[in-house]
Amino acid sequence: MSFQAVRKLAEMDLQNKKVLIRVDINVPIQDGVVGDTTRVERIIPSLETIIDKGGHPVIISHLGRPKGKRLEELSLIQLVKPLENLLGKSVQFQPEIGIPDFSAAGLYSKSATLLENVRYYPGESTNDPDFVNLLAQWGEIYCNDAFSASHRNHASIVGLANKLPACAGKLLQVEINNIEGILGSDVGPSTAIIGGAKISTKLALLANLTKKVDNLLVGGAMANTILLAQGHDIGNSLVEKDYLDTALVFLQEADKNSCQVYLPSDFQIAPDIRHGSSHIAEIDDNLNGMGIYDLGPKSINRFAKVLDQSKKVLWNGPLGAFEFVPFDQSTNQLGKTLAERTKEDRAISLIGGGDTIAALAKGGLLDYMSFVSTAGGAFIEYMEGKELPGIVALQN
Ligand code: 3PG
Repeated sequence: MSFQAVRKLAEMDLQNKKVLIRVDINVPIQDGVVGDTTRVERIIPSLETIIDKGGHPVIISHLGRPKGKRLEELSLIQLVKPLENLLGKSVQFQPEIGIPDFSAAGLYSKSATLLENVRYYPGESTNDPDFVNLLAQWGEIYCNDAFSASHRNHASIVGLANKLPACAGKLLQVEINNIEGILGSDVGPSTAIIGGAKISTKLALLANLTKKVDNLLVGGAMANTILLAQGHDIGNSLVEKDYLDTALVFLQEADKNSCQVYLPSDFQIAPDIRHGSSHIAEIDDNLNGMGIYDLGPKSINRFAKVLDQSKKVLWNGPLGAFEFVPFDQSTNQLGKTLAERTKEDRAISLIGGGDTIAALAKGGLLDYMSFVSTAGGAFIEYMEGKELPGIVALQN
């Protein structure tokens, strides 16, 4: 069954039904203070739909990776207030996922229920049938609204979808429709900007993209591995020496698929990442043991020219060490170029990945992009052309 044929939340009869809705409110929390709440904002339409249709949302999510342990700093109790504020309704927190005591006063009495971090329970990540049965007792209908966690073969993602009448939530639909719409549109020259630290985590993505886009702009520390494989001096830059041969194979693949790969040809170098005084080095310079932390101005211009010719742009991974000034220049400048092109309807842009979002949000550029996915790992796996277990379970 295609995703379009999957039952949607809006089509379901939810009157007096408890709806187990799997969301991803895995948001940054520093010293008990919730940071970016985008992931919470994006699930509100589904929660409102359930309530408007006379149902009761029983919210399931993970927070971090507690690996079956009860870690106080990863308790979802911290998300109650942000949820109540954004939903404008009261939310009951359920600290234990045990067998529900339906006679207990207060159970399901508020507008919605939030269950404790599902990853406190070892059965979640093993998709343990006993844990699935336990979770299933908390509701009658299952809704997946967690695209960003749908690459996990977990109890609350796959097990519940196979156990209860299941449907796709509004955010899940928005994510898939937008990503598919942009990827599938035939508007003209297409470019992918891929950055990040490790080429090993993006090999499958790069390989798939060589078949899908005309140009690949590669930056971040992962470009160092390719540059070293080509015989260039990269000083003491971050590199994955076990992947030098693989990097060369990737370049051959790209060539075979007529995908033009662009690599940095000048750099911002410094003795270390926290060193404010950096300088520019050209590709054939001796780096004297210094590290590459961002693209240099010539590379930024070269990449910008490619963007100027592109009608469709996909971006995953920052191009430099954007958290440290001045190594945020390439990400900011190319982000601005893409934001302008998108704003003026000269290109469509698709952004995914936590670091990419943080980097572009820092420069105030996110709002101009055509679509920003809430997903990190799931976005990459989807772009690799993989089937996500959570989506497959709904289709089955
Ligand atoms: C994410 O932040 O990408 C999602 O919440 C998934 O988290 P995970 O990688 O710990 O499964």
